[in-house]
Amino acid sequence: MQEMNNSSSEKKLFELAQSARQNAYAPYSHFAIGAAIESENGNFYFGCNVENLSYPVGTCAEAGAIASMIAGGDKKIRKILVIADSKELIAPCGACLQRIKEFADDSTLILLANMQGIQKQFTIAELLPFGFVSSELKK
Ligand code: THU
Repeated sequence: MQEMNNSSSEKKLFELAQSARQNAYAPYSHFAIGAAIESENGNFYFGCNVENLSYPVGTCAEAGAIASMIAGGDKKIRKILVIADSKELIAPCGACLQRIKEFADDSTLILLANMQGIQKQFTIAELLPFGFVSSELKK
């Protein structure tokens, strides 16, 4: 299998997140977000925010992309890209950082994009330096 180089995988992530964003269901916030994941195995997944009349029931784009990754049989995120059409860059919310952390390692990258392209990248440790982990819970 041919490994994708960084720029072509990031181009694909950008395109997938952008097209998922176009399908976002955001009639309440009117704020459409798309997310795309490249797994450690080189597979691609995507999601968008899905709101609900009962507001807290709505789900974030990252949650959708992660659910799709799990359904597809992957468990490790190599890169996750989040895109919104806004002047201010959108970063994953606190809950989504914890969701990402579950399937991340030290090299997992979070790419932040707007309509112009990828603008910034962070590791999960930079965005969630002291997130919840507990080896005790696994016992
Ligand atoms: N949203 C996401 O999809 N991802 C985030 O990380 C932050 C917020 C969504 C939730 C809601 O549908 C809309 O953005 C406005 O908060």
